[in-house]
Amino acid sequence: MHAPIGVFDSGIGGLSILQALRAELPFEDFVYVADSGHAPYGERDPAHVIVRARAITGYLRSRHHIKALVIACNTATAAAIHLLRQEQPDLPIIGVEPALKPAALHSQTRRIGVLATQGTLSSAKFQALLDSLKDQAEFICQPCSGLASAIEAGDADKIQSLSQQYTAALGSEDGVDTLVLGCTHYPFARDVLQALVGPSVTLLDSGAPVARQTRRVLEAKAVLAPAREASALLCSTGNIEALQVAVRRWLPLDAFFNRVSFQTLDPETPT
Ligand code: DGL
Repeated sequence: MHAPIGVFDSGIGGLSILQALRAELPFEDFVYVADSGHAPYGERDPAHVIVRARAITGYLRSRHHIKALVIACNTATAAAIHLLRQEQPDLPIIGVEPALKPAALHSQTRRIGVLATQGTLSSAKFQALLDSLKDQAEFICQPCSGLASAIEAGDADKIQSLSQQYTAALGSEDGVDTLVLGCTHYPFARDVLQALVGPSVTLLDSGAPVARQTRRVLEAKAVLAPAREASALLCSTGNIEALQVAVRRWLPLDAFFNRVSFQTLDPETPT
């Protein structure tokens, strides 16, 4: 009997990471928590995000005995991963960070756009990442207030208008040739963003690198599941129907999991 991998985000954004995890690790079970009752994280105080990260990690450990945790959220990784690792030293924890390093390797013009939440961009962790790469490229960082919420709500008009506003803010002269999607919600607006920046700009997200890193961590601990039929449990602290609609719309999990189930959690203290 193999324990599942826990995955969480403020909402549906982490489904973009779950999709990559499933492709990389097809025999693993996953328990996903969408903390929609407390979203968005990116426009809240980091202290709020830390409280939520602790509550969800506690729930995933006590109720599902997870063997590893993937924080499928840039904002929560920036605010809480160092604390969770200190507090849960026996739990392998994998986080997400905006793909600045792959972008620096890819960019020819050395001008790179970064779209992320205010919480991620203001964090010490992101500033350290930016500092470590400052000699390699110019990064134009744009906070995208409201975009994750518009994606969460499936509000196409708002996704379009906010994407237009934020991509325009990156500047049109000597424009960027690489655009980092530094929030796990943004891959769900990929088509809109790509149309706005044009086909010559490469959009990078963190799904595949995070999935590969998760595989490496599980391999090192010798806890990879053997070939078997895998399942997914998707939980929400908010509107479970919104999660079901998002799953149907963005990633048809039934197509690649043998069993998919949904559950509503107590928004305050998932137990
Ligand atoms: N999906 C989250 C991230 O990657 C944040 C969205 C939010 O603001 O809640 O940063």
